[in-house]
Amino acid sequence: MRRYLISVTAVAFVAGVFTTSAMASAQFPKGDGNVQNGQAIYENGKGDVPACNSCHGADGSGDDALGTPRLSGQWFTFLLKQLEDFAADKRMDTTMFVMNANAKGLSPQDRRDVATYLAAKKIEFKGSNLQELKDQGIEVGATNFGKSLVEFGSVQLSACKSCHGYAGRGAPPVYPIIGKQRYTYLVSQLKKWRDGSRANDPMGQMQAIARKLSDEDINNAAAYLTSANPYSVGNVATPYDH
Ligand code: HEC
Ligand code: HEC
Repeated sequence: MRRYLISVTAVAFVAGVFTTSAMASAQFPKGDGNVQNGQAIYENGKGDVPACNSCHGADGSGDDALGTPRLSGQWFTFLLKQLEDFAADKRMDTTMFVMNANAKGLSPQDRRDVATYLAAKKIEFKGSNLQELKDQGIEVGATNFGKSLVEFGSVQLSACKSCHGYAGRGAPPVYPIIGKQRYTYLVSQLKKWRDGSRANDPMGQMQAIARKLSDEDINNAAAYLTSANPYSVGNVATPYDH
């Protein structure tokens, strides 16, 4: 009887693990592209498309001076959507005017491959160096005010957390990771959502939020987010750790 109970529990446990991982991969796919081809494109470019690492950095953590985002570790679904949106001119790159041409220069399969490679790329990146940016004369917000905006919102504004998760750690497949993203990029995108020059968000969700933000709110939220720690006390794993 005792042995029977143990084996039933074991079967239930194993079945549970399989169902959960099958569900997770269906809901939040890590990407099914060819990682080798993705890496080759990232490091060497392809045809007329330059190597991605020349702007997004060897480790894919982006570059504040160039205004490029971190790509490593972002959800596959989100990276692919952005590349498809650039390819279809639903999102315009108004920072360096290259991403639309880059995305169009890759085949749909290439775009899948490079998104798969980047989503799986694990890096240790602590966020933009805010002191260095201040020393260069860039306006940097206050992290404590940013934290309250991101985690709690205000009477007129839903907390960023309600969609992007605690510390901006993201909620796949739709809501991108914005924690440990580049400061300059966060600021530029929030301003683009606000003035409508970026408008590829489902149901205008981000534009509605950004229209309620002042310059100060944007700087504060970006200052907090770039260094936000996604691991809360007593919870070392993010809900969607990968
Ligand atoms: C000449 C510089 C440059 C090169 C080369 C480049 N990018 Fe970009 N990329 C940018 C800039 C600038 C942005 C931000 C655009 C904006 O401000 O809207 C960007 C944005 C992106 C985004 C959107 C990310 C997000 O969080 O929304 C993705 C994905 C991306 N690039 C992938 C790639 C890939 C893949 C390659 C190589 C095939 C590549 N980039 C090559 C400059 C570059
Ligand atoms: C109602 C849900 C919702 C709320 C609340 C929200 N966002 Fe977003 N946000 C989105 C969605 C959806 C996207 C992805 C749009 C797309 O597909 O390009 C996004 C994208 C972004 C991006 C671009 C990320 C990238 O890599 O390109 C930034 C930055 C951002 N949000 C910041 C914020 C901040 C800061 C707040 C709080 C002030 C906030 N968001 C609140 C839904 C939301």
